[in-house]
Amino acid sequence: MTVLTAAPTQGLHGSVRVPGDKSISHRALMLGALAQGTTTITHFLASADCLSTLEALRALGVPITYGAQQVVVHGGTGLKPAHLSLNMNNAGTATRLLMGLLAAQPFTSKLFGDASLSQRPMTRVTSPLATMGAKITTEDGHLPAVIHGQQLQAIDYTLPVASAQVKSAILLAGLQAQGTTVVREPLPTRDHTEKMLQAFGATVNVSADHHTVKLQGGQLLTGTAVAVPGDMSSAAFFIAAATLVPHSQVHLPSVGVNPTRTGFLEVVKRMGGRVEVTPVETPGEPQADLVVTAASLQPIELTAKDIPAVIDELPLVALLAAHADGVSHIHGAEELRVKETDRIQTIVSELRKLGVAITEYPDGFAVDGRQTQTVLDPEVDSHGDHRIGMMLAVAALVVERPLVLKDAEAMTVSYPDFLDDLAQICQEA
Ligand code: S3P
Repeated sequence: MTVLTAAPTQGLHGSVRVPGDKSISHRALMLGALAQGTTTITHFLASADCLSTLEALRALGVPITYGAQQVVVHGGTGLKPAHLSLNMNNAGTATRLLMGLLAAQPFTSKLFGDASLSQRPMTRVTSPLATMGAKITTEDGHLPAVIHGQQLQAIDYTLPVASAQVKSAILLAGLQAQGTTVVREPLPTRDHTEKMLQAFGATVNVSADHHTVKLQGGQLLTGTAVAVPGDMSSAAFFIAAATLVPHSQVHLPSVGVNPTRTGFLEVVKRMGGRVEVTPVETPGEPQADLVVTAASLQPIELTAKDIPAVIDELPLVALLAAHADGVSHIHGAEELRVKETDRIQTIVSELRKLGVAITEYPDGFAVDGRQTQTVLDPEVDSHGDHRIGMMLAVAALVVERPLVLKDAEAMTVSYPDFLDDLAQICQEA
């Protein structure tokens, strides 16, 4: 149990360099493993999820040197059969991307995960991979999975749900398949895999509307230097905190601002939040310095087309909506039900404990920020979900009494030092 206290009356002040982007850190390791030559990764996210990828690749025979300043992947040796099953712990991205990568390797691999990961749907990945010729068995569409590597054929596939994980799994398989793979998305999702394949020397064709990606199989990758930007999905907790706590001003240097990831910035601005964005010159994915100032908020309406760019920040959208002057409606977010927890359920149950007027929909929620909020139950629970835990730590800043958080350790999945970094901006005058 971790005690969460309110923000100081002078507000939040200071600067936080948020850890590296989780999506990009996973991909840098995997492409580095497939590439010829050395890949150096700076500002790598040393969190439980990314370390699961790192350890899995090491178990597959990839030499990786891990240092505080940089991670070096020594590519070119190829992957070898692992002696043991690969423990993916809580890491959904790692699992789904590795399925695509391993489906084309000439050996058998086994993947398993923790209780939460073992409940998450894998058929969305195994089904298109099977069409490519992959031989993957699961427990009724769930982990554990056994992947019998095969020579794969290219596929032309239309994703039934907008998912960067599924798109990326197919691209990693397609890179190693015969022919040209085409992935069509109902809505554009994060494009880190496409961008990173290009940085490693592959040719990737993306349609002007960003809905279709084409990749010729058999292209060789060359190791490169990857500078990982700060994770927008981690920065979002401080953006929300500084917006909600009166008198705050917080600096967030070098945050990734790939347009497929900045939905939360747009939402905050549409709600009346104040975030100054100053681009910084860097190689690789775009980055910017952010300055966030406290603001009062208006309600917002989000529908399916808005969701992919803000999918991981929707717990925070609910929290901001709880402090907006009106009723917000979020629809088209049914994918939240298959995240680390059923996030619609966990957002609703935990915010209700804080007295928030929130209504659950099958595909989202409505929040009336005008209702007076009184803590009904100070014992809140991350339910083992890192983003729910961190959202609750931000929520605690603006309630009238301390909260007690169950399973704060879940935060180690994406941001091990989150509570320390939050405490630091609570202390600076
Ligand atoms: C991710 C894609 C998204 C996102 C997840 C990371 C990725 O998942 O929610 O946190 O790195 O590709 P889906 O592909 O399931 O939408």
